[in-house]
Amino acid sequence: MLCTNSLFRNRVFLLAFISAPISSVLHAQSDSSARPKVLVIATGGTIAGVQSAPGTLGSYRAGTLTAEQIVGSVPELARYARVEVEQFSNVASTRITTQQWIGLARRINAVLSERTDLAGVVVTHGTDRLEETAFFLYLTVRSDKPVIVVGAQRPATGISPDGPMNLLSAVRTAAAPAAVGKGVMVVMDDRILSAREVRKEYQRVGGFTVGEMGMLGVVASDGPEFFFSPVRRRGADSEFDLVGVDSLPRVELTFSFPGGTGPRFDSLPAGIVVATTGFAPGEGAPYRTLRQQGVAMVTAFPSGDNVNAPSRPPTPRADSAQRDTSAADSAARAERSAPLAIVSQHLTPQKARILLMLALTKTRDPRELQRYFLAY
Ligand code: SIN
Repeated sequence: MLCTNSLFRNRVFLLAFISAPISSVLHAQSDSSARPKVLVIATGGTIAGVQSAPGTLGSYRAGTLTAEQIVGSVPELARYARVEVEQFSNVASTRITTQQWIGLARRINAVLSERTDLAGVVVTHGTDRLEETAFFLYLTVRSDKPVIVVGAQRPATGISPDGPMNLLSAVRTAAAPAAVGKGVMVVMDDRILSAREVRKEYQRVGGFTVGEMGMLGVVASDGPEFFFSPVRRRGADSEFDLVGVDSLPRVELTFSFPGGTGPRFDSLPAGIVVATTGFAPGEGAPYRTLRQQGVAMVTAFPSGDNVNAPSRPPTPRADSAQRDTSAADSAARAERSAPLAIVSQHLTPQKARILLMLALTKTRDPRELQRYFLAY
């Protein structure tokens, strides 16, 4: 009974807070010019989710609360930053399109170059596509200022919502000088994860991980503490400036599997990423045909960790120096005559697809495409 009462009081407090005049909430947060300024750009997701029966395990609508309401529900933010808000969209993240990625990256690039007073940016986002949006921003936000992507796995009106704490940790990280130059990051459950490595492993609090690659740091009670820095190109050093890019080339994602015979397309995509640990006998020829038809092909491990992939660009193939005479060598000959397959070392197939879409806005040369896969 005690629990039910206190749960009810908490819900009443949250709902009263959410419906409080937003101007007063934001005013209370802007009392000191000494705190860094952080812009929170909201896109929707469970962090903005509201249930029809608050305080239950019941269903909810993602992308319901506004940016102001999300920020207004965490008064503690005022201790660490002067927070400004902007609403980019308010949708479940499965609805995010590549057009919206381009628009979001452009908006963040613009505010970070125009607003020298901003310490960093936080993007609130649904967790379903969080890792993909974060990696797109990692490749296309050309600034060293921190950009932190954050979400929640429980709705704002749920029992023990994780969004408020995640938002607080994200804002503290965006405001931290130690976060400068580390590329776009995801902060979930007090872990600081590189957007390059992060993935949603399960649909529960604590479900975001970087596999064997290691988290960059943690947000402790004293604030963000970093252990590592990424080494690959990112941020201000990225070549992907989106100048003249209004849409991304079509890149398909397929799986290789025992007995597979390769995909069939009504119209050919510009590129294809195949999640594979090795092709089945029936798959080699169809994928080779796609390359011969001009489709750029990348192979990626389903886990994202192909530790045996080459770490250097391929040397030119000595086609004419090799003479295969037997019938058994015809597949090898055909392979040598087809454009190279590009290899992804340490990216999940979904992220390899994002890098291939961006790289295809620059070149269709497989060797040059491979260079992008080794650099980013
Ligand atoms: C979404 O991705 O928008 C819904 C799921 C979530 O945010 O956890």
